[in-house]
Amino acid sequence: MIVLGSTSEVAQAFVEKALQEGEKFERIYLFTSNKETTERFARHIDVKFLQQSEIIELDLTKEINYQNFDSINSSLLFCATGYLGDGTEEGLYDNKNTQRIIDINYSKLVPVINYFAQKFESRRSGTIIGLSSVAGERGRQSNFIYGSAKAAFTAYLSGLRNYLFEKKVHVMTVKPGFMATKMTEGLPLNPKLTATPKQAAECIYNAFKKQRNVTYVLPIWSVIMLVIRNIPEFVFKKLKL
Ligand SMILES: NC(=O)c1ccc[n+]([C@@H]2O[C@H](COP(=O)([O-])OP(=O)(O)OC[C@H]3O[C@@H](n4cnc5c(N)ncnc54)[C@H](OP(=O)(O)O)[C@@H]3O)[C@@H](O)[C@H]2O)c1
Repeated sequence: MIVLGSTSEVAQAFVEKALQEGEKFERIYLFTSNKETTERFARHIDVKFLQQSEIIELDLTKEINYQNFDSINSSLLFCATGYLGDGTEEGLYDNKNTQRIIDINYSKLVPVINYFAQKFESRRSGTIIGLSSVAGERGRQSNFIYGSAKAAFTAYLSGLRNYLFEKKVHVMTVKPGFMATKMTEGLPLNPKLTATPKQAAECIYNAFKKQRNVTYVLPIWSVIMLVIRNIPEFVFKKLKL
């Protein structure tokens, strides 16, 4: 299994869930920009599940040497990579913030997924799970740079799914609403609409087993987004969302 964004608590909960359910992986490749934190998780799964793991450095803001990934083969890729950055109030006109959001959520991430997608395609098997966001469904004034990068990522996953379908590779798009993780630490989230990493991992794992194409984390978000998508633009532009 390949994990992108290994310090994500959702990624870690998904790995644990999969191992608890008896999924077998020759090796788990933990890609991370934070080796130290990932080492703790690697040791944890090595001891608890006698699972071999390997940590691979990946910082999307730096140059990537794809030759380092040559020997990596897997049947499952789980991508939890993402970066919220500063929202509109603080960050809209800060080009560094804007660039970083676009790079980590989309432009620097896509070539990495493509690299592994090509390996899956030649083997004619495998599943790619990508965590996008409900933020990508409609641009809202509070954080539309992040939302637009996630919209692009959602469209990419949709196209990749379409392209790889006949090559026997499945691509699943996950659209989380709120999740209580380090990304949202300190934000005032409605607890009824917020999933714990464990809940999120269970939703994602169940959807993976059912070979879903697109899944929301917490079903209530599919209803919320149905409403949001259908608000007429002349009303939507006046809302403070
Ligand atoms: N939390 C929410 O409410 C929420 C809602 C909707 C969607 N999402 C999406 O769900 C996914 C998981 O998010 P999360 O809540 O678990 O947040 P998170 O803990 O911040 O996870 C995102 C991961 O992205 C990786 N990352 C960040 N900067 C990177 C860089 N420069 N290079 C490479 N990797 C980098 C980090 O992994 P490493 O430290 O291992 O590199 C980080 O753990 C993300 O795609 C996020 O956008 C989250």
